[in-house]
Amino acid sequence: MLDSIKRQVRIWEKDRRHVWLTRLATFLWMQLQNQHDRLFMAATMRELAETGLPRDVDAAVHAVMESPFGRPIRPMQLSPELSALIKIVAENKPKTVLEIGTARGGTLLLLCRFASPDATVISVDLPYGRNGGGYPKWKENHYKSFAMPGQKLHLIRADSHAPETVQKVQDLLGDQGVDFLLIDADHSYEGARQDFESYGSLLTENGTIAVHDILPNHSDPSIEVNRLWREIEADDSYDTETIVADPRQGNCGIGLVRVPGK
Ligand SMILES: C[S@@+](CC[C@H](N)C(=O)[O-])C[C@H]1O[C@@H](n2cnc3c(N)ncnc32)[C@H](O)[C@@H]1O
Repeated sequence: MLDSIKRQVRIWEKDRRHVWLTRLATFLWMQLQNQHDRLFMAATMRELAETGLPRDVDAAVHAVMESPFGRPIRPMQLSPELSALIKIVAENKPKTVLEIGTARGGTLLLLCRFASPDATVISVDLPYGRNGGGYPKWKENHYKSFAMPGQKLHLIRADSHAPETVQKVQDLLGDQGVDFLLIDADHSYEGARQDFESYGSLLTENGTIAVHDILPNHSDPSIEVNRLWREIEADDSYDTETIVADPRQGNCGIGLVRVPGK
């Protein structure tokens, strides 16, 4: 029942129909989720401060995805795919990380913990944005504490497609490019392509772009990243690889892009 309501709202959102109704539904859903997260966030933050996140990637992903610890920050990912992705981060120790799509902060926490200890991490999210709804202001201080002592973490609450947001990201990076970019925000074809073009152009030599939700989504037709992914894979100027737990799973999937000669 709830799933079919969500699906219908997503279809209207995609077709820009019943705009007020889709906004109201997103607003109400976010209020419910925020109340849930408020209940559990204090315990999660206490455990994070006292015990910390496991140093082993699989154990850290398990804590965030499967244990009560992760309840208010759980990523919108599949565990095996997220583990494989974070292992790449842990191996490469990027010094600059850009996440488009913060949501409940679970991926942000993992990115901070496994990036370089002196990394600059930037995470962008639009309050009440599509495909997740962003996060409320009260979570900001919690997210800021995800950074390790030598890291700089910048949270941008704005539309990733706005030219001012792209400029802000560039200003924060200064003369550095992006070593690791995770695109997981607006999942429409046009929206994901715009993020890929605007922020992909900031990639450093040997940098990696990770694109989430590259499989055709069986239950949510508003997710069109698979169309973008097919175009990226067909383009000879990119080296691509996929992280897909099971091709028949009907959602998620991560595409990795490297740009040789950059
Ligand atoms: C699928 S969620 C991100 C999930 C997160 N990376 C994780 O795995 O935990 C997508 C997020 O992108 C945000 N979003 C959607 N459109 C956006 C836009 N144009 N600019 C910035 N953020 C956007 C939504 O508000 C939502 O919180």
